[in-house]
Amino acid sequence: MNIKKFPGPEKTFFGANADKDFYFNILEYLFQLQSKYGEAVHFNAMKHNMYLISDIDLVEKILVKHPDKFLKGTSVQRLKIIIGTGLISSEGEIHDTHRLMLANDFKKNNVVKYFDFVKESVSAMISKWEKISKQNDNKIEIHSEAGDLYVDVIMRSIFSDDVSDEIISTGQKLNRLFYNASPLLLVAPKLSLKLPVPEAIRFKKTKSAFDKLLKSKIKNRFNSGIRKNDLLDTLIYSKSKTGYSMSEDAVFNEVITFFLAAADTTSKTLSWVLYLITKNPEIFSKVNDEFNKNISEKINYDEFNNLIYTKCLIAESLRLYPPVWAISRCPVENVILNGLEFKKDSTILIFPYYIHRMEKYFKSANECIPERWMSKDSAKFPKYAYIPFGAGPRVCLGDNFAWMELFTAMAFILKKFNLNLITKSDPGLSSAITLKPKKDIIIEISNK
Ligand code: HEM
Repeated sequence: MNIKKFPGPEKTFFGANADKDFYFNILEYLFQLQSKYGEAVHFNAMKHNMYLISDIDLVEKILVKHPDKFLKGTSVQRLKIIIGTGLISSEGEIHDTHRLMLANDFKKNNVVKYFDFVKESVSAMISKWEKISKQNDNKIEIHSEAGDLYVDVIMRSIFSDDVSDEIISTGQKLNRLFYNASPLLLVAPKLSLKLPVPEAIRFKKTKSAFDKLLKSKIKNRFNSGIRKNDLLDTLIYSKSKTGYSMSEDAVFNEVITFFLAAADTTSKTLSWVLYLITKNPEIFSKVNDEFNKNISEKINYDEFNNLIYTKCLIAESLRLYPPVWAISRCPVENVILNGLEFKKDSTILIFPYYIHRMEKYFKSANECIPERWMSKDSAKFPKYAYIPFGAGPRVCLGDNFAWMELFTAMAFILKKFNLNLITKSDPGLSSAITLKPKKDIIIEISNK
């Protein structure tokens, strides 16, 4: 077979060709690389072969058609020391078995089981906001509020009435440390956690306290034999076709995985959605009208089906600001796709942030136009040009749960508060594990 030369910058004498921006401003660096060399680019970083992919035919082949040829990327594998071996980082039979055991709970009609937990958490946040709204300084930094909210939601959904304030507050602390971590912690967690620096010390201390709290709750539930209508019950009692059920250790790993997968992604989305509506009064007024017309005082799950415009707005926010801005994979052998060779043990970065902003798929791609999802054209958007939740067998398990969380928070917030964006200038973008604003987004809240 004819193998084509992979487009990309030439190697330097030292064997690397990623410049310093790769380490300090990765999002911009990758964006420029893709704009300059096209939709499939090869480059080297730390003598490691890397491929940057926005070609949607290759996206489909890597994620959907040949998933068995690609493991999760090296970054995920390295992070196992922190995130353990749960659904995000496991591979093969164990992954597929756990996924099947949990899939039922996360179907659209079944996530309603968690709706009351979500409402409880959102109500607690609203009570706090009511107090803030009466103060002279009635401003909130939306990202940390949303982060705290969705840690609360996932912890209540896992442990229901076994949850404690200590678990929630330790989880919130850990969430902040993890998602504001320095690149070193993410790139070389093993090494960086050994360093006697304040960040590593704080991180290890908080993670160890959190692990201890979770393990003790999990052990108690195992030993008590008490059944509850929560995610921990599903983790402990669901059985595979062959009768396999999870050990205490496996349950712990999945609990940590849900904590990390669920909270930050959804909170970034809520922050960006609130940013977009407060920045665009016309969009805000349409969203407000839709909630006023369709959502009752009680806020019922079924009513969310009528939020057509809001759903388009959230879809648009996920297009412009996909929290998972890159999806990484590692070929298990040399793989040739479309005449391009992906070397064994290299890193492939699939780049939703770039794909979602390609003019050939989305006209006026940098603008927020929720209506694009309502028009007949939306049916023509190619399937893999829009992948905020990934694709293929490793596609997000929690998308229905996330939609429910987002609608619920918006319903409560819009019923109670007027929102006024204080951060007028562009907050910029920073790419930690998820895509976040460089500057804080501050919103003023007042009671309606
Ligand atoms: C807007 C919010 C969310 C976004 C944008 C998002 C995005 C993603 C993406 C892109 C992946 C695939 C990663 C890959 O292929 O390497 C993923 C995987 C996953 N997500 Fe989400 N996610 C969100 C919310 C949630 C929530 C709320 C939960 C749990 C309740 C969750 C649980 C998971 C799990 C368990 C996986 C691993 C699935 C597997 O490998 O089988 N996610 N998510």
